[in-house]
Amino acid sequence: MQYEAYAIDTAPGRGRPEAAQKIDIKLRINGSEHALAVDSRTTLLDALRDRLGLTGSKKGCDHGQCGACTVLVNGRRINSCLTLAAMHEGDEITTIEGLAQDSALHSVQLAFIEHDAFQCGYCTSGQICSAVALLKEDHARTDDEIREWMSGNLCRCGAYTNIVAAIREAREKKAAAL
Ligand code: FES
Ligand code: FES
Repeated sequence: MQYEAYAIDTAPGRGRPEAAQKIDIKLRINGSEHALAVDSRTTLLDALRDRLGLTGSKKGCDHGQCGACTVLVNGRRINSCLTLAAMHEGDEITTIEGLAQDSALHSVQLAFIEHDAFQCGYCTSGQICSAVALLKEDHARTDDEIREWMSGNLCRCGAYTNIVAAIREAREKKAAAL
C-alpha cells in the first residue's frame, strides 16, 4: 500500500509539514528476498506487519518494553519496533513464520504447545523467537537463567510458569540430541 507520511519540524519558527523520504530497500526474511519502497522512518515491525503481511510478530507497546515484536536478526533477538527496516539490508531476518521447516514445527513451538505455555497468545510469537535465541546462546541452563534471559518478554496472561517449563523441555531435548 502506498502512503505518504509527514514529519513536523518543531524547531522555533518552523512547523510546516515535510514530505517523508521514500527509499528502496531489500530485506531478506525467512529465506526470501523482498523489495520495498518505504518511508525511511518505517520500523522493521511495521514493514513486516503492514507491508509484508507477516503479522505473527505483534505490536504490544511499540516502545521496546514488552517483547511481543521480537524477531531474530542474524540469529540474535531484537525488538523489531525499535529498529528501522532500512538498517537491515543484507541481514538474515527470521520471524515466527520462518521457524517451522517443511511444515514441521520448531522444537520450541512444539514445547510451547505441549506445556500449554500461552493463554491469549499475543505474546507467544515473541516468547518463542526469544526462546529460540536463548537456547542458541546457551543461556537456559537453569530455570533462573531462563527467567532472567526471558525477562524482556512480558506475558499479561501470566503464563510464565508454563513458558519456563516449555523452554526447559526444549533445552533438555536439545541436550539429549547432541
Ligand atoms: S512492541 Fe516492541 S517491545 Fe513492545
Ligand atoms: S499469553 Fe496472553 S499475553 Fe502472554
